[in-house]
Amino acid sequence: MLETNLASLELDNPVLSASGTFGSGWEGHQFSDLGTIGGLVSKTVTLKPRPGNPPPRIFETPSGMLNAIGLENKGCDAFLRDALPRMHELAASGRRDGRSGPRVIVNLGGSTDELVELTRRFCKEGVDALEINLSCPNVAHGTRSSTDPELTEQVISAVKAVATVPVFAKLTPNITDIVPIAAAAQRGGADAVTLINTLVGMAVDWRRRKPVLGNTTGGLSGPAIKPVAMRIVYQVRAALPDLPIIAVGGAHSADCVLEFVCAGASAVQFGTVMFSDPTLMARVVNDLGERLRSAGTSIRELRSAMHAVPALVAEDALVVAKALVVAKESSR
Ligand SMILES: Cc1cc2nc3c(=O)[nH]c(=O)nc-3n(C[C@H](O)[C@H](O)[C@H](O)COP(=O)(O)O)c2cc1C
Repeated sequence: MLETNLASLELDNPVLSASGTFGSGWEGHQFSDLGTIGGLVSKTVTLKPRPGNPPPRIFETPSGMLNAIGLENKGCDAFLRDALPRMHELAASGRRDGRSGPRVIVNLGGSTDELVELTRRFCKEGVDALEINLSCPNVAHGTRSSTDPELTEQVISAVKAVATVPVFAKLTPNITDIVPIAAAAQRGGADAVTLINTLVGMAVDWRRRKPVLGNTTGGLSGPAIKPVAMRIVYQVRAALPDLPIIAVGGAHSADCVLEFVCAGASAVQFGTVMFSDPTLMARVVNDLGERLRSAGTSIRELRSAMHAVPALVAEDALVVAKALVVAKESSR
């Protein structure tokens, strides 16, 4: 009922953590049983350590937040040594009662050459999938490769050429039409797309006559962006029905998951909401079970439910039109 899949990767359920908002999951483990969720997605890992942007880097907004962390991380060697073993430990804790446990998904960032090198290294480390961050709005040129279809295709095909696990392309919403970019990721061989990264925004402190964030602009996330993420998931699913979608953007309940699944997603990530309620994901898994049981449906059945509607409407319209013709003819 709760099972889902992202291409060849089977998940116990569609609930995943969102990159950058939950560390490697270890910190959250003290609050709830993360062994029950569908997957853990790491913060973006780069080949070399990155100091990130100058502070302040976070600012709360109505129903959301702005962040300009700038991909701060300790680099690949430190991640492999300190964080990945903990992700594997959490995954093992969930392998019980016939469940696979949370899948270990590592999010990677950097130039194409760096991404290829990182992919080679992580594929030897027993990860279940890689999410390629083509869309960080808070670093120089961070969104370049997901605003140009040729670059998107090039980067993803370079990564796919060396990857031995499924590869997900994380795309930016900061573009007029995302469909050509998602199509380019699919041509490059992406096994799924993650939709969406944050929307570029800004906050001003008028008393100091200055932008609030040290980086001037930041990425907007949280419930405020859910309708944008929903629209993008729906558009991509309608245009590219064979490309699996991981939805991310403002999810904060089991109902949000079911809404994203109806719009076309196969899995849903939880990000900003985890800062205010780190126990939420485990509860959502429970709530999802209850909702699906009482509605007598499943994630796989609900997926793309709305995309069947236009075809049915068209069919219904045809049936009605034929009936009218018959009625008219018989009344002559
Ligand atoms: C503080 C913060 C840090 C983030 N860091 C990353 C990151 O390192 N890599 C990445 O791909 N996305 C990163 N994101 C984006 C989230 O993974 C997610 O795409 C976005 O926040 C929208 O989902 P949400 O509204 O549920 O938070 C970050 C978001 C926040 C709020």
